[in-house]
Amino acid sequence: MKTALVTGASSGIGYELAICHAKQGGDLVVTARSVHQLNMLKSTVESKYGVKCAVIPSDLTVENAAKKLMDEIDEHNIEIDYLINNAGVGMNGSFEDGDIAAMQQMVQLNITALMDLCYYFVREKRKKNAAAKILNVASTAAFQGIPYVSVYAATKAFVLSFSEGLAGELKKTDITVTALCPGPTKSNFGMNANVDEKMANFPLLPSAEKVAKYGYSQMLKGELTAIHGAANKVGVLSTKLSRSAVGNIAGGIFKLSQKQ
Ligand SMILES: NC(=O)c1ccc[n+]([C@@H]2O[C@H](COP(=O)([O-])OP(=O)(O)OC[C@H]3O[C@@H](n4cnc5c(N)ncnc54)[C@H](OP(=O)(O)O)[C@@H]3O)[C@@H](O)[C@H]2O)c1
Repeated sequence: MKTALVTGASSGIGYELAICHAKQGGDLVVTARSVHQLNMLKSTVESKYGVKCAVIPSDLTVENAAKKLMDEIDEHNIEIDYLINNAGVGMNGSFEDGDIAAMQQMVQLNITALMDLCYYFVREKRKKNAAAKILNVASTAAFQGIPYVSVYAATKAFVLSFSEGLAGELKKTDITVTALCPGPTKSNFGMNANVDEKMANFPLLPSAEKVAKYGYSQMLKGELTAIHGAANKVGVLSTKLSRSAVGNIAGGIFKLSQKQ
């Protein structure tokens, strides 16, 4: 059975992606900063699904964290088959009032760590001519610029564009790349991104479990882009008519949803 590395597995979509893989009987390497949550995930999957789960905590905003993580996985003699790049943070608010250090960390996590992990993973797999799968978690925010989450949306545009480009380069290999694009989803994400609590956990939003199940199944199929939910698909299609109109409508919602 395949082994998956899941980043940001301590909560939300990443936690549920790890559960999806364990349910298939797959072993796991899980990472994030919250060691306690990761250990709880490990005991759940090991007792419930009988799989092996290695916990390797990492703060992916630290320079060269991706290389260090891959080296540690090597030291454990674990071979990764699926790379699931899910860890990410958002930030709601105007660019000019934002904290530049926090924005730089967001870029480091959402872009640099994801790109670095893909780099070390793809090179290793290509050296061995091995089959592999990559799931990069982008967002519907990737499809247009969005006021009040301008840096976040741009990081996700990178994830989508990079995944499409990389998939093209790997077309003739046994490695597939899937970009999962969730819309707003119930998790800690909104609360950590300065979104008002009521908006962040609006009852009609899909659960992290639903989004993860969809993303995992699309990764297994080797789909290039996986947009979750009919409303999100319509939103993304509307960007074909006007990126700026969709971006400004979304920006208006983000402005209203800021924590006061
Ligand atoms: N929820 C949404 O509305 C939504 C919509 C579209 C896209 N997404 C994307 O979905 C992905 C997962 O988000 P989520 O909704 O599941 O949010 P979440 O519950 O807040 O999970 C974020 C995960 O990222 C990890 N993380 C944060 N900072 C980190 C760091 N410095 N180093 C390592 N790991 C770090 C967190 O773990 P620790 O805090 O333990 O480190 C956590 O496991 C993100 O890429 C997000 O951009 C979410």
